[in-house]
Amino acid sequence: MRTRVGIVGGGPAGLLLSHLLHLRGIESVVLEARSREDLESEIRAGVLEHGTTELLMETGVGDRMRREGAVHRSVNLQFDGRRERIDLEGLTGKTITLYGQHEVVKDLVRTRLEAGGEVLFGAKGIELRDLGSEEPKVRFLREGEERELRCDFVVGTDGFHGVSRKSLPDRVSTEYERRYPFGWFGILIEGPPSTEELIYALHERGFALVSTRSPEIQRLYFQCDPNDEAGNWSDDRIWAELHARLDTEDGWTVNEGNIIHKNVVQMRSFVCEPMRYGRLFLAGDAAHIVPPTGAKGMNLAVADVRVLSRGLTEFYASGETELLDGYSETCLRRVWKASRFSWWMTSMLHRFDGDDAFQYRMQVAELDYVTGSRAAATSLAENYVGLPMERGFEAQAKERASAS
Ligand code: PHB
Repeated sequence: MRTRVGIVGGGPAGLLLSHLLHLRGIESVVLEARSREDLESEIRAGVLEHGTTELLMETGVGDRMRREGAVHRSVNLQFDGRRERIDLEGLTGKTITLYGQHEVVKDLVRTRLEAGGEVLFGAKGIELRDLGSEEPKVRFLREGEERELRCDFVVGTDGFHGVSRKSLPDRVSTEYERRYPFGWFGILIEGPPSTEELIYALHERGFALVSTRSPEIQRLYFQCDPNDEAGNWSDDRIWAELHARLDTEDGWTVNEGNIIHKNVVQMRSFVCEPMRYGRLFLAGDAAHIVPPTGAKGMNLAVADVRVLSRGLTEFYASGETELLDGYSETCLRRVWKASRFSWWMTSMLHRFDGDDAFQYRMQVAELDYVTGSRAAATSLAENYVGLPMERGFEAQAKERASAS
């Protein structure tokens, strides 16, 4: 088998890249180890930045998101018995959309298959070969048969535990990591929303988050031991913990519902530099991981493949490699800023082992400052709705000046 771009991993990054390339007339094949059903039912985060929703709309895969996703204009920070609103739209002119990652995946799979795209599910035992050559190869097993895909480029979008990053020779990359001493216990429930907007709460017992998926399905999280297991928590114990961390003195209480899913999410920051070796490009979680507190994971993946699709388009149109050669640097500037934001939100909102009363007061003071100062609130808001894709604000200001 031969194709131009071999894409290893059928999550949002791989599928979206395949779709963007298709719109430019560039052929690709997506290999995914899981079955379509497993891929489409994996519960992940659900906050789409303004730029992510725009890209999905512009490229014709956003209709269901527009209909079923919920546009949120603000988020709340709760601490020290108060709840304060960050007016995202008022401060930045932008909003966010709540729409589950697996819904984005379903929309992309359907769009690719309807366009005749090749998405090979159940591709096991993937190995990458000849990455330093002009014809890299992907070997895999499917339906009991050994196969080889020869490509011009291989793109690794197979997540943190995937084979792609592990195929980089040791000497070419540097990995940066921070593990956090806690996880998030996440539940999905059937029931009405507790609020119209997200609530990020710092409590002496630890962090909690109220989010949503639809008018009927809600998503809630609370900070837990990183080694905890979903089975250790009865429904009663979960609700007791959520009430303790979230209910407020004015009588507001988190709405209970039927718990239909429980899981523990690990928390880590990770960046691999550079995001390229020879003809292999890494994108999304294969190259970087952020803790979910900033809601950045899928948005970073989308930003990576947008940059990469431009580079590949330029290459196939003219043979030029300038954009491809700048891929890693362009993406990493944004990745590091999103890593900083996610780390900062995580630090401000969680209790760390050994934290003393002074540390807690520092966190409360920081939240008080962030919600009380327009400058500080704007800083949070512009990161939360998503930093610009590629350029710094000075370059943007110059462009605006020369356009007017
Ligand atoms: C979610 O709805 O799953 C969610 C929302 C906000 C976050 C993380 C996860 O920061």
